[in-house]
Amino acid sequence: MKIDFTGKRVLVAGVADDVGFGFAIAKQFAEAGAKVCIAGWPPALGIFETVLRRGKLDESRKMSDGSLLEFERIYPLDASFDTLDQAPAAIKENKRYAERGDFSIQGLVDRMVADFGPSPVDVVIHSLANGPEVAKPLLDTTREGYLAALSASSYSFVSMVRRFAPLMKPGSSFLSLTYLASERVIPRYGGGMSSAKAALEADTRYLAFEAGRRFGVRVNTISAGPYASRAANVTGAIAAIVNFYESNSPIPAMLTPENVAHSSVFLSSPFASAITGTTLYVDNGFHAMGKALGEGDLDWVLKAGDVPRVG
Ligand SMILES: NC(=O)c1ccc[n+]([C@@H]2O[C@H](COP(=O)([O-])OP(=O)(O)OC[C@H]3O[C@@H](n4cnc5c(N)ncnc54)[C@H](O)[C@@H]3O)[C@@H](O)[C@H]2O)c1
Repeated sequence: MKIDFTGKRVLVAGVADDVGFGFAIAKQFAEAGAKVCIAGWPPALGIFETVLRRGKLDESRKMSDGSLLEFERIYPLDASFDTLDQAPAAIKENKRYAERGDFSIQGLVDRMVADFGPSPVDVVIHSLANGPEVAKPLLDTTREGYLAALSASSYSFVSMVRRFAPLMKPGSSFLSLTYLASERVIPRYGGGMSSAKAALEADTRYLAFEAGRRFGVRVNTISAGPYASRAANVTGAIAAIVNFYESNSPIPAMLTPENVAHSSVFLSSPFASAITGTTLYVDNGFHAMGKALGEGDLDWVLKAGDVPRVG
């Protein structure tokens, strides 16, 4: 049994460096034979395209057969806007946006249809989030900051499913990335980002039902363990969170982007054809724990018990 995406096209929205989950997901889909398009946030996209062109990402692009990961297209996307007319003049005139054409979600859909025809994509991955006030406690978050976090990080997924699903064949798949802060308190995950992730998970269930019945597509989200990506570094607390996580998880290992990428490919594949509306934890089991390991806890579990051994 082999996961084979030959002849399929995948869109990964939220790639602007080779460190985050999006890049690793794009690469694993390419390993599985898919054609891969990516979409990146205009303020970060210019630098990404430059380092890509200069060969600075070649090491990360190296695939298992020695070839380099290729992106079929790189699109600009600001997921805070459904259509270009929603973007304020200051954004449209900003030098990082001005030359990009239509960077809205509808603009992305239209470009893909123009490039690849009426059913341009088989898998859509939403690997993006933004909370302008993420460094503030929820208690100190403004209405504006809170709504901006939900707009960029949650409604963007609704909008993508709403606009792409009618173009996709039954059995196609949508996937987003969420975090445990939606259901447990993770101090320093502020600015309404915890609310945005809670919305994303609830929306996954509703979209799975509605888009499942209307278009026959699947919708899931992966709750990834903590990882020091560029976005996570903005919280200022990721190193401590990662250390705590590693020392208290059932599998005491750092989460890698490849862990998340492998599960993303599986969840988008026909092997997961009956899985939809799910939040899948890809976190070395951390979510299952209810207490930090304390003095003697590991000795207690590791010592040979009185269970009879075979042989
Ligand atoms: N790193 C973690 O610890 C962790 C854990 C669980 C879930 N996640 C989630 O994984 C996803 C990917 O994040 P990551 O940690 O790989 O970081 P990342 O920085 O690689 O990815 C976030 C991406 O979102 C883009 N972005 C920001 N605002 C945008 C907008 N308005 N429109 C379009 N793109 C925008 C950024 O440019 C960036 O490419 C996010 O949804 C994040 O919340 C991360």
